[in-house]
Amino acid sequence: MTTQGLFISFEGIDGAGKSTHIEALAQAFQAQGRAVTLTREPGGTPLAEKLRVLVLNDAMDAMTEALLVFAARRDHLQQLIEPALARGDVVLCDRFTDATFAYQGGGRGFDLNTLLFLERTVQAVKGLEPDFIRNPDLTLWFDLAAEIAAQRLTLARSPDKFEAQPVEFFRRVSDGYLNRMTAGPSRFARIEANQTREAVWRDVLHAVQAKGWLA
Ligand code: TMP
Repeated sequence: MTTQGLFISFEGIDGAGKSTHIEALAQAFQAQGRAVTLTREPGGTPLAEKLRVLVLNDAMDAMTEALLVFAARRDHLQQLIEPALARGDVVLCDRFTDATFAYQGGGRGFDLNTLLFLERTVQAVKGLEPDFIRNPDLTLWFDLAAEIAAQRLTLARSPDKFEAQPVEFFRRVSDGYLNRMTAGPSRFARIEANQTREAVWRDVLHAVQAKGWLA
């Protein structure tokens, strides 16, 4: 019997606190005998990690940013995500295309139709129906008010290019996530991130259990 692969992404503005829950969810799946591939975007392959360094540190316009994150995504899908799903792994990905719609689309105001075109083109999968677009089976969106995230970030390590953005930028990023959730509600679980870590974890677990993927 082949086990079906699962693709779960984690999204939210910087400071929303998704990292510890990604680790915990990996352990929960492993405890139930599932193989887990943990990965992130931009990144996840040697080439995509090189592009990540450019995207996070170099000044560039929104189109250049969008093209680089989609180039990284193409390599990531081909080299890592598709093979892992074909093996039956649970792929846990820290950010995916919703981040491009939120950051480049919402935050930077880049054209959404161009992003939709890139999504359709880059995320097509050879051998599947021509209109199939690889996207997560479930996206956990850690929703946190931009003001609270900004307070958390001031306590954090030295900020990268995005983390250094003003609070208004993150309000637009949040709107971008909300718009993506509105366009595809069945794929999303909104997690209230302004709670204790234990309460957030309980909500994360419930969202995955509700799909029937964890006991
Ligand atoms: P993180 O992995 O530490 O969250 O950092 C990734 C940063 O890159 C984060 O600020 C969001 C940003 N980003 C984009 O702007 N567009 C994208 O498509 C992705 C995946 C991330």
